[in-house]
Amino acid sequence: MITLKTRDEIEHLRKAGQIVAEFHREIARMIRPGISTMEIEEFADRFLEERGAGAYTKGYKGYPYATCASVNDVIAHGFPSRAPLKEGDIVKIDIVAELDGWIGDSAWCYAVGGISEEARKLMDVTKECLYIGIGKAVAGARLGDVMHEVQTHAQLNGFSVVRDLLGHGVGRELHEEPNFAHVGTPGKGVRLKEGMVITIEPMINAGSPHMTIDADGWTCRTADGSLSAQFEHTIAITADGPVILTEQ
Ligand code: MF3
Ligand code: CO
Repeated sequence: MITLKTRDEIEHLRKAGQIVAEFHREIARMIRPGISTMEIEEFADRFLEERGAGAYTKGYKGYPYATCASVNDVIAHGFPSRAPLKEGDIVKIDIVAELDGWIGDSAWCYAVGGISEEARKLMDVTKECLYIGIGKAVAGARLGDVMHEVQTHAQLNGFSVVRDLLGHGVGRELHEEPNFAHVGTPGKGVRLKEGMVITIEPMINAGSPHMTIDADGWTCRTADGSLSAQFEHTIAITADGPVILTEQ
């Protein structure tokens, strides 16, 4: 069932969203060669606690951490690690905050020092995919219309869209309906309505769209070892158009 949120509920979701936005503003300044993703994880723990927010992913289906830290060919759900980040890496940091029972969810991709031209282009195109998706996410549109635009932009740039991990509704729970891949056919899929709150979180690969999962049961990697980027916002569909609740 898709639940529609009232204005008041969207304000609660915005407050949770603002915590993850502020977290991303902070770590953008911390990420450089030599820092480890476990240090970012420890910062996340303190950061959420200081704001009275819960680390929603910790214990969620057994996931052990407050952040997901996914480096280079890791698409998503990587575990934080003590290994220092290296010049040229790209790292996706994903965090879900819970405030007064409401959820904010945002992942962002960061360059570690100077990165290759290919990595830069992949990051740029993935961020463009995010904002194309957000721009098309207006009441009355179907998810197939929205995601067709996202998919087309990725593919015209020579990249591919991961199908196995999905965007989702957000509310008091992290994963509400609808659940949807970031590919689509115009005229198909759920019709967006005022009051829906969803993530848009394209995962774009430099090579093939296929993925494998490590023996830890979580770490999702590109099957061909190619780079993967992701940017994610939580958005509300309103009478005034899409509103980003996790805007940094
Ligand atoms: N932002 C991720 C999502 O969209 C969070 C997943 S975290 C995990 O679902 F706990 F499921 F790993
Ligand atoms: Co999400």
